[in-house]
Amino acid sequence: MKEQILSQISTECPWRDTLYWYDTIDSTNTRAKALAKDGAPAGTVLIAGNQTGGRGRMGRSFSSPAGMGVYLSVILRPGCKGNQLMHLTCAAAVAACKAVEKASGTLPGIKWINDLVCGKEKLGGILTEMSVNSDGFVDWAVVGIGINCCQKKTDFPTELQDMATSLLLQTGTPISPALLAACLTESLYKIDKILLSQKQQLMDIYRRHCVTLGQKILVVRGEESAYGEALDLDEDGGLLVRLSDGTEKVVNSGEVSIRGMYGYV
Ligand code: BTN
Repeated sequence: MKEQILSQISTECPWRDTLYWYDTIDSTNTRAKALAKDGAPAGTVLIAGNQTGGRGRMGRSFSSPAGMGVYLSVILRPGCKGNQLMHLTCAAAVAACKAVEKASGTLPGIKWINDLVCGKEKLGGILTEMSVNSDGFVDWAVVGIGINCCQKKTDFPTELQDMATSLLLQTGTPISPALLAACLTESLYKIDKILLSQKQQLMDIYRRHCVTLGQKILVVRGEESAYGEALDLDEDGGLLVRLSDGTEKVVNSGEVSIRGMYGYV
């Protein structure tokens, strides 16, 4: 499988040389974090055929059955302060959309902040984790992306069947996880090169793909929730919301999740 992936990554992409394949692993993000702590270089890419403990945002799990999807994490060392990297998940979402379009012809939307969607269903997700030192500098960041490729509806856990989709379901054609993994690696490499220098442009692309804007949403923070309308994004990817009492506030992804009023998106 590793050879199949490498054969589809341009020789111009140096991340080819630090790409690791795992038939099965608990979580590529968990392993990437351990490698980053041990000094693995920026551009170390981990791809798995199966995750037994795939993780999502806010402590959720990410269903990662064998051979059905792409489960990929990459270590970044952007050499900046943590507060300059708040847009990392948004930049990774832009990279993922481009890769999915290249591999399958389908351009997903983005449900703020980290979900790739097709219509009202979830195609994949992004989990970014980072370590910031006592001076505020980022030691390392790990971007993990999971995309459903080959599932039929019945391949998803019952509780996800109404809200999950795959590229097979969207296109009617089997999309090779190896091709998508190669496209994702290249796409993330390109975005990493412009991560700090073209932040504004990346956020503009994210804004265009973000299906949440203009929607009536439910903002959920722990046990509390409030209805509102998603108005815009700030330069760091924070979501500007007008709440039903008329007040406007920026909500950040660390604190809240959102729901559409008529379902998951
Ligand atoms: C989410 O849905 O909230 C994010 C899902 C992120 C899943 C990917 S799969 C590769 C990497 N390893 C993980 O354990 N999680 C991410």
